[in-house]
Formats: sequence, C-alpha cells, structure tokens
Amino acid sequence: MQLKNDLLIRAAKGEAVERTPVWLMRQAGRILPEYRAVRNSLSGFKELVETPELAAEVTIQPVDILDVDAAIIFSDILVVPEAMGCTYEMIEKRGPIFPRTIRTEEDMKRLRVADPHEHLQYVLDAIKVTKRALNGRVPLIGFAGAPWTILAYMVEGSGSKTFSHARGMLYTNPKLAHQLLRMITDTTTAYLKAQVEAGANLIQIFDSWAGILSPAHYREFALPYISEICNAIRNVPVTVFAKGAFFALEDFSKLNCETIGLDWHMEIARARQEVGPNKTLQGNMDPCLLYSSFDTIQKETIKMLKEFGPQRHIANLGHGVYPDTDPEKVKCFIQTVKEYGSAVSQS
Ligand code: CP3
Repeated sequence: MQLKNDLLIRAAKGEAVERTPVWLMRQAGRILPEYRAVRNSLSGFKELVETPELAAEVTIQPVDILDVDAAIIFSDILVVPEAMGCTYEMIEKRGPIFPRTIRTEEDMKRLRVADPHEHLQYVLDAIKVTKRALNGRVPLIGFAGAPWTILAYMVEGSGSKTFSHARGMLYTNPKLAHQLLRMITDTTTAYLKAQVEAGANLIQIFDSWAGILSPAHYREFALPYISEICNAIRNVPVTVFAKGAFFALEDFSKLNCETIGLDWHMEIARARQEVGPNKTLQGNMDPCLLYSSFDTIQKETIKMLKEFGPQRHIANLGHGVYPDTDPEKVKCFIQTVKEYGSAVSQS
C-alpha cells in the first residue's frame, strides 16, 4: 500500500522533505478524553492492549484529532516480559508492577524466548487492523523496549527512581544479566520482525532507562544488544531513543539505524556534531513547554526547528507527552511545525 503522507519515512531515510514531519511520543492515550472514554468502558489497560480492534481505534485517534504525521501502535513495552513468562499488572495511577521478579538463576527457569506468533499475536493483529483502517493516510510506527530497559523492569519489579536491584545485578551477577539480556534480545528481534511483516512502516526502540547507567555499563550491557536488533531489522527505518544517554551519542552514530531520538537535555548543535551528518535526529522539546502559553509554544517550537534545520529532522518532544497536558497545546505544537515548514518551503 502506497503511503499518502510519507514525510516521516523520507525524513528518516535522509531524503528531501518539503516540511519537517511531526508526531509525539505517547500520543496514543494519556491526554485525549476520547481515549479515556474507551479506556473507562473496559476492565483495564490490558484489555485495551489485548483487543486488536480497540487498540487500533485508540492508535488512530491522534491522527484524526491531533493531525500528526504518524501513528504509533497502541501497546506497551511490557508485553515482551509478559510474553517471556514474567507477567505485569497495571495499577491505576501507580504504573506497572511485576508480582514475581527475576533476580536469580532459579527465577530464570520461569522464562522462555517468546515466539511472537504464539505469545504476541494480539499486537500483530492490532497492527494489521490499524493498517487497514489507516488506508495509507500516515505511516504506522511499531516499537519495543530496549533490552536494558526491559531487564530493569523484570529485575526491579516496578518503576523506581534508582532501579538499584537492576543496576546492582550488573555488579553482583553480570553473567545472569547477560543471560537475561540475551533472551530479551532474541524475543525482541523476532517480535520486531513480526511487527514489520504485519505492516509497521518504521520501528522505534525505547531505552527509557539508559540514563541511569554509567557509560561503561551502557557500553557493556545496553549498546551491543541494541546494535544487534538494529542489524536484524533492515527493511524499514529504525529509530533508537535512549533517554539520558547523551554520553553515548558518538556510539549511536555507528549503529545500523536511521534516526537517533534526543531528549531535552541534549544540545541540538552538539548532538548533531557527535552523531554526524548521516543520521536523522528526532525530538527534542521539553514536554513542559506544553504547559505554557500558545505564544511561548510557537516561539520555542520555531527556535527548535531553526536549530535542527529543515532536513534530517523529525519534530517530537524529548520524552512522552505528560498526561495532564491540554490537547489544544499539543495541537499548537503540531500546527506550528507544519506551518513553519510550509512557510519556509514556499519562500
Ligand atoms: O506512544 C504511544 O502513545 C503508544 C503507546 C505506548 C504506551 N506505552 C501506552 C501506555 C508506548 C509507546 C509505551 C511505551 C512505554 N511503556 C515506555 C517507553 C516510553 C517512555 O515513556 O519512556 C515505558 C517506560 C512504558 C512502561 C509503562 N507503561 C509505564 C511506566 C506506565 C505507567 C505510567 C505511564 O507512563 O502512563 C505504562 C502505562 C501506559 N502505557 C499507559 C499508556 C497509554 C497508561 C495506562 C492507562 O491508560 O491506564
């Protein structure tokens, strides 16, 4: 199926674009009353994730309502540990918890390398239903968590400020950590390949907890596994978003991927210098900008666009949009990107 709007794909590949494409991390769900209406009619988050028709509906909501240049499949990075045998519960207002964590060799016996068609078919079905409904309007982004971030949740058992159990394992039992990372990587690679087969047009890898590792640990326990996944997915563009990993930008320049996501801690000019000219950059507005006035949002967004320049950039926030953001402010960010790009390409 030919895409009617392929700005995201062209920008990722470094091809010329008439304006910068824009979408938001965590655009599906969270901020839209239309999402809450669907969500509140169900038993919980998991029912939504596991019902392909409903997941497709909330995936498309931001395309209809916010007018973004891409859809991202409604799912979660935590479906991977679940498929491996480590189930999670999503607690309202608190986030995910894993009743049984993975901390010892004995715990590892409960895990398997998951077969996406056996254990994650509901995500693949959601991608197929979404693609059919989108009918080529915009590309569909598939995603997974990076192995380190998934390990962090499986070992810790919940979100945490320090992830001290997970980071501790890298010192106390590095062999076990590598064994677990191996299983997560094998599961994730097969899962992402299956997402592409099901119709995902671009893949994003979220390393949300990259920034809590030392550079040395990041190079030993995170980068090699991300690199392996990038090497395995070669028929669609791949984006690596590693929050807080400003120390690894030069390493990212060597990855076999098209786009590097930046968070708002990273200086744009410096990031470009360290990543080099051959990759697209995505980001990187502070999500808190969207608490300010329409005027300030426009001014700061244009400043960001000027700093990135008109090519090899995908406009986004530096992390997911915060749940208490006014959708009208999100629309202002998106419209500013669209109007600025169109004005520049006409002049
Ligand atoms: O981007 C999108 O809109 C697509 C859907 C998506 C969700 N989670 C849905 C979701 C994506 C891409 C994710 C990724 C994800 N999930 C990450 C990586 C990105 C990041 O923010 O760093 C992480 C770390 C998770 C784990 C997770 N899932 C947490 C910590 C929580 C609770 C708090 C929160 O972030 O909202 C979730 C729950 C979750 N995942 C919700 C949604 C819409 C809210 C749950 C609800 O509706 O009740």
